[in-house]
Amino acid sequence: MTTTRLVPIDRDRPNPGLLDEAGACLRDGGLVAFATETVYGLGADATRKTAIQRIYDAKGRPPTNPLIVHVCDLAMARRFAAAWPADAERLAQAFWPGPVTLVVPRAPAIPDAVTAGLPTVGLRVPAPAVARGLIEAAGVPVAAPSANRSEHVSPTTARHVLDDLDGRVDILLDSGPADLGIESAVVDVAGDTPRLLRPGPLRLEQLEEALGRPIGRGMPAVGEGPQSSPGQHARHYAPHTPCLRVESFEALEGLALTGRDIVLSCGRRDAMDLVGEHVVLDRPDEAARRLYATLRELDAGGYARIVLVMPPDVAGWEAIRDRLRRASVKA
Ligand code: TXA
Ligand code: MG
Repeated sequence: MTTTRLVPIDRDRPNPGLLDEAGACLRDGGLVAFATETVYGLGADATRKTAIQRIYDAKGRPPTNPLIVHVCDLAMARRFAAAWPADAERLAQAFWPGPVTLVVPRAPAIPDAVTAGLPTVGLRVPAPAVARGLIEAAGVPVAAPSANRSEHVSPTTARHVLDDLDGRVDILLDSGPADLGIESAVVDVAGDTPRLLRPGPLRLEQLEEALGRPIGRGMPAVGEGPQSSPGQHARHYAPHTPCLRVESFEALEGLALTGRDIVLSCGRRDAMDLVGEHVVLDRPDEAARRLYATLRELDAGGYARIVLVMPPDVAGWEAIRDRLRRASVKA
């Protein structure tokens, strides 16, 4: 255990001295948690095996689940890729800095510990000034999974990070809530056809438009080992309170809800007035921004069950549906 230093930092004009200190901590093999535009990440020097091991230990993460490597620009990304496919270039040009992770062949400087032995590495350039300034100050690529205990709900505020990892992180840079609220899209561009391994804040059509062709939508099967991807562990992003999901308002009636249950509906407000205690998140972007904080609040509320009413299975809601499925079991 260590003492976690909580460091408030301006999200738009971060103090360079603070970034230098945090960067030095990373170079020394330390752990620094910081906000990206998606969620808070738990960062370590991606080129140092011992630092990487600290990430897995702090999270209690299975070593078969590879880490995303954060870089400060396209030039740095190319240094840590053994090849830079045309699809990677298209997506990077269109969306970086931003919430898209590109899986490409990895360069030898990235150790096995980061990629769980895979011949590929997931790279991304985060948007916030704090995140990019930190990587620049460190001068090394920064491996950073979401800064939560493994399988728990991802953190969108510094408070969430402390709740999960206090005493397991050296420095926590607090620049306020993350803008988007759910993790980046992960796109495998290492093979002949691009594959979406995890839906993210951008719509699938936006990715396909930038690529100029369709993306394979088949997500990898559950439990294939390190070959498969994000939250391939079916249970992921989950609260501790038992969490059930239904596809419609009508299906709630079969559940015999009591005053000890709480209903969270995404995208469906109609008829919710007839339900007891409930929370509604209306639009995909609002739902993304508030989803994890809401799940953490409901989890702390002492309810017997959290019942999720799934959003419609239509474009725009894919990423929320994905996260809700992983947080719950079918009622
Ligand atoms: O938005 C995000 O992506 C956040 C912020 C901190 O950047 N990070 C994040 O990391 O969500 P994490 O570790 O919780 O999820 C990364 C996912 C993993 O589930 C992993 O399976 C996938 O990315 N991944 C990483 N490297 C991969 C690779 N070489 N091949 C396939 N999937 C990979
Ligand atoms: Mg995660």
